[in-house]
Amino acid sequence: MKYASEAIRPDFEALDRLIVKQLHSDVGLVENIGQYIVEGGGKRLRPLLCLLTARALGYQDEGHIELATVIEFLHTATLLHDDVVDVSALRRGRPTANAHFGNASTVLVGDFIYSRAFQLLVRLGNLDILQLIADTTNQIAEGEVEQLARAGDPATTEEQYLEVIRKKTAVLFAAACKGAAMLAGVDASRQDAIGQFGLNLGLAFQIIDDVLDYEGDPDLMGKNLGDDLAEGKSTLPLIRAMVAGSPEQAAAVRSAILDKDLSRLPEVLAIIRETGALDYSRGRAEEFRDLALEALAGVDGGAFGANLRMIADLSAGRSA
Ligand code: IPE
Ligand code: IPE
Ligand code: MG
Ligand code: MG
Repeated sequence: MKYASEAIRPDFEALDRLIVKQLHSDVGLVENIGQYIVEGGGKRLRPLLCLLTARALGYQDEGHIELATVIEFLHTATLLHDDVVDVSALRRGRPTANAHFGNASTVLVGDFIYSRAFQLLVRLGNLDILQLIADTTNQIAEGEVEQLARAGDPATTEEQYLEVIRKKTAVLFAAACKGAAMLAGVDASRQDAIGQFGLNLGLAFQIIDDVLDYEGDPDLMGKNLGDDLAEGKSTLPLIRAMVAGSPEQAAAVRSAILDKDLSRLPEVLAIIRETGALDYSRGRAEEFRDLALEALAGVDGGAFGANLRMIADLSAGRSA
């Protein structure tokens, strides 16, 4: 409950119950992997944004619990697949599902969770929200493919990087918020503003994730450092280091990306520190946080609105 205030606790607990209930399957392996990933916890940030937005906008019914569960399932399924693709070994403080159960089972259970999300969504019976979530899921997949296509490519620009993280991460934050606004029945311009809040918050969140991949504390994050370099991902710290560094420094980063060479992590880390690339990236995250807060300016939302603003602050300044 680090990110959740007392006011949202009943909804947050209802979310937890629905997540556990909806992961049931008669097939043992589905249950095992589902339980395994849910027991690992996770911050539940995206569903929390959904719950808070609905309440901040005065929503009184219970449909937001289902929508929030859908959002967390999409996130979870994406992570199952992402860890296979990224060959990651640690997630939520324990071996990844792929490390524990193998790639094949992990991919298939990811499919189960994706499709379970859409079953739940249909139950909600709102075609506009169904459209939003279908488009969002499609964009996430596209963003992950685009990132894969750019792996090992040091020529990726900051603009191209932002486009990838918009698709793979920020659109889900946006949908969590905008979907809740649609449920609450506010007008279209308000829905869009809330969507912009989520989108900019998601961009800030992913930029910090990419910073933490270099200088986070694995015990706090529950993930290993260096996964991005091992995959040759041109994330913002590296992109900035190549722009701001000396020709030698830029060449060293470039070749580490090209070779997807984790053994050069200490050297790369020294360069991104010396060139101020981590501070620059944090600064960019703060800019997106500010845009998020601006988008929310027309929403008071009482304790729920205050919680949304707190999450925006935490996301841009977090260390885990
Ligand atoms: C991890 O998201 C994937 C990113 C978009 C960076 P979270 O950091 O929200 O993961 P959990 O759900 O808390 O484990
Ligand atoms: C985020 O990217 C994953 C998705 C949004 C699908 P990362 O690959 O950086 O996420 P982590 O670091 O594995 O959590
Ligand atoms: Mg990953
Ligand atoms: Mg990461």
